[in-house]
Amino acid sequence: MSERGVIVTGGASGIGAAIARRLAADGYTVAVLDQRALEGSDSVAAYQVDVTEYEAVRQAVDDFAGRLGSLHGLVNNAGWDRAQRFVDTTPQLWDTILNINLRGPMNVTHAVLQHLVPAGAGRVVSIASDAGRVGSSGEAVYSAAKGGTVALMKTLAREHARQGITFNSVCPGPTQTPLFEQLDETGKLAVALERAIPMRRLGQPDDYPGIVSFLLGDDAAFITGQTISVSGGLTMNG
Ligand SMILES: NC(=O)c1ccc[n+]([C@@H]2O[C@H](COP(=O)([O-])OP(=O)(O)OC[C@H]3O[C@@H](n4cnc5c(N)ncnc54)[C@H](O)[C@@H]3O)[C@@H](O)[C@H]2O)c1
Repeated sequence: MSERGVIVTGGASGIGAAIARRLAADGYTVAVLDQRALEGSDSVAAYQVDVTEYEAVRQAVDDFAGRLGSLHGLVNNAGWDRAQRFVDTTPQLWDTILNINLRGPMNVTHAVLQHLVPAGAGRVVSIASDAGRVGSSGEAVYSAAKGGTVALMKTLAREHARQGITFNSVCPGPTQTPLFEQLDETGKLAVALERAIPMRRLGQPDDYPGIVSFLLGDDAAFITGQTISVSGGLTMNG
């Protein structure tokens, strides 16, 4: 098998780091695109890039694809939020949240498609959020951005179906990562959520790499435009 290169955005922390580790262990050649420097990993390539900056993204994607001679896929995982009631937020905060969580996946997906389309094959998986499916108090703009990412994946799934490029979304529920801890400074939210989640625990970063690996693999060739919640039963979508 020739090298299968996969780009993971936001792979320096939390869910993205767990995904990058798993994909490397599965035999993929992994590149992490993160605005933070990647510490202590020699199994993945690292590009220190802000996903909101199209030109920088494009250069990193072209460099990685150029080194391998091809690209297999992309995991859009970089994300950020600050919890606040919508009525109290500012347009400046909306821009920041939309840029990272919606424009970011657009930038990276567009840059990656320049390589997948000529090759006539590929996989894109976006880590969205259950907030984008069912809403989440204090996360109005983030929810809108994540819902937008899900819709982006569905439309691209249609546009590129005949080329064999698949696009799917994975929606985590509340997950113990630095992002969640920053949103839940008092720890009260975690306690309330543990009561509400049927499996009685928050998600952990390692709850997600399995489904991502599956969607990137050959067994998922006929699955596209789908949105899958991984949330311990907190959200059940028909
Ligand atoms: N933690 C949760 O409860 C939860 C729930 C649902 C969805 N998610 C989603 O899962 C994904 C991963 O989140 P996490 O909880 O692991 O967060 P995290 O903060 O632990 O990791 C996010 C990573 O993304 C990177 N990043 C942020 N903005 C970036 C930018 N502009 N350019 C490049 N890199 C950037 C950060 O540097 C960090 O390494 C995000 O898309 C998040 O929205 C998280």
